Amino acid sequence: MKGINIGIIGFGNVGSGVVKILREKRGFLAEKIGLEINVKKICDKDTASHRNVSVDKKLLTKNHLEIIEDPQIDIVVELMGGIHPAKEFILGALKRGKNIVTANKALLAQEGQEIFALASDRGKSIYFEASVGAGIPIIKSLREGLVANKFNSIFGILNGTSNFILSEMSRDNCDFSDALKEAQKRGFAESDPSLDIDGIDSAHKLALLTYLCFGKFVTMKEIFVEGISRISLSDVEYARELGFEIKLLAIAKKEGEDLEVRVHPTLVPKSHLLSSVNGVINAIYVSSDLAGELLFYGPGAGQMSAASAVVSDIVDLTQDIKAGLFRPNLKIVADNSVKRIRKIDDFESRYYIRFMAVDKPGVLAKISGVLSKYRVSIASVTQKERRKAQVVPIVMIVHDAKEKDLRTALSTIDRLDVIKEKSVAIRIEEL
Ligand SMILES: NC(=O)c1ccc[n+]([C@@H]2O[C@H](COP(=O)([O-])OP(=O)(O)OC[C@H]3O[C@@H](n4cnc5c(N)ncnc54)[C@H](OP(=O)(O)O)[C@@H]3O)[C@@H](O)[C@H]2O)c1
Repeated sequence: MKGINIGIIGFGNVGSGVVKILREKRGFLAEKIGLEINVKKICDKDTASHRNVSVDKKLLTKNHLEIIEDPQIDIVVELMGGIHPAKEFILGALKRGKNIVTANKALLAQEGQEIFALASDRGKSIYFEASVGAGIPIIKSLREGLVANKFNSIFGILNGTSNFILSEMSRDNCDFSDALKEAQKRGFAESDPSLDIDGIDSAHKLALLTYLCFGKFVTMKEIFVEGISRISLSDVEYARELGFEIKLLAIAKKEGEDLEVRVHPTLVPKSHLLSSVNGVINAIYVSSDLAGELLFYGPGAGQMSAASAVVSDIVDLTQDIKAGLFRPNLKIVADNSVKRIRKIDDFESRYYIRFMAVDKPGVLAKISGVLSKYRVSIASVTQKERRKAQVVPIVMIVHDAKEKDLRTALSTIDRLDVIKEKSVAIRIEEL
């Protein structure tokens, strides 16, 4: 049986998972695709440490050029992560006529335009299924399965660490720092969790989904990003009483001729499926003109889940190579009804707001006076029980308000002498 040679750069968690699958399922895959997939070379900075799959020492190298310059290697699989030198390795491989498989969302979100342009110029393909939702086949579904669709919106729970923390807070009534510690103890969060809890990882993935759905390559600066570290247990509890769960949502949605692209904690109605996505699970809720509303759900990280997606990309490429044809990635076509990326000041949303105010008459009147001055209208208000320090939480839901108006109102209110802590505002999505 004819074989296809691949080279893997990055023999870490996902890289060793890919080698394991290709070894353990060699016959199964060969029967399906009519080809053997041979791992010809594996590059890693460390070629000595033991991995969960043992390989012939001759396959290992520290020199990436042994992969990208090898004329017998058809596919370069980049699984080292990071921006540099991953970018240079991929560009180098494309220039030498290789097709690429990568799981590197950070790289594609930040440098994708240049990489995709070179691939198209050289008539080569880039596959990146594992970069969003790991084993959930969302990229292929958006690009191929839903090819005839136009999209209205995507709402994603794209970061398992943040979702685990928020779910723990809701389920166990624990505060943010305890939930984070639990995530770290169980291996779901890095010792420096900032990429996850500050929303950066979700923003990288959202940039790729936005590109696939709306044909726009948004920069990181164009995505409004707010993390979950200011969410308190009280907010989780009050939100629940009001019929919501708090989720870190990555959102791309059309509003008239604008596209809103944002990542932030969001109150999701308990009646919506996304509110029940708990733990390290990811979910992507897509609204399209033909197929309607679709939900993709599953583990969004993990060695075998990510490696499963990488192997699927490799298999896709082997089919083209086998057929001896160049089948470029389907062209991403810009949605011309979208004229601009909406600026944060112009976002409009309902909000949950929590003030911490002294417990005395007239406080509510002062707060509502400022809100009304900035065109923020109150839908409901609840004054919670008095705390020891005579400070009471006042929880409000406000009707659709412009972000700029709301921010100005809150910074004015926070300066009132009756307010004792910075207020918390969380957007509400009706979905
Ligand atoms: N883990 C997941 O669940 C998951 C899911 C979806 C996507 N991804 C993506 O998959 C990629 C790999 O993730 P991972 O979890 O497998 O990371 P990892 O365990 O850190 O593996 C990366 C490997 O690449 C090596 N490496 C780094 N720079 C290199 C260089 N210049 N030359 C050769 N080798 C180099 C690293 O060596 P050192 O450790 O010595 O630096 C490490 O062994 C990332 O882009 C990640 O975002 C991961």
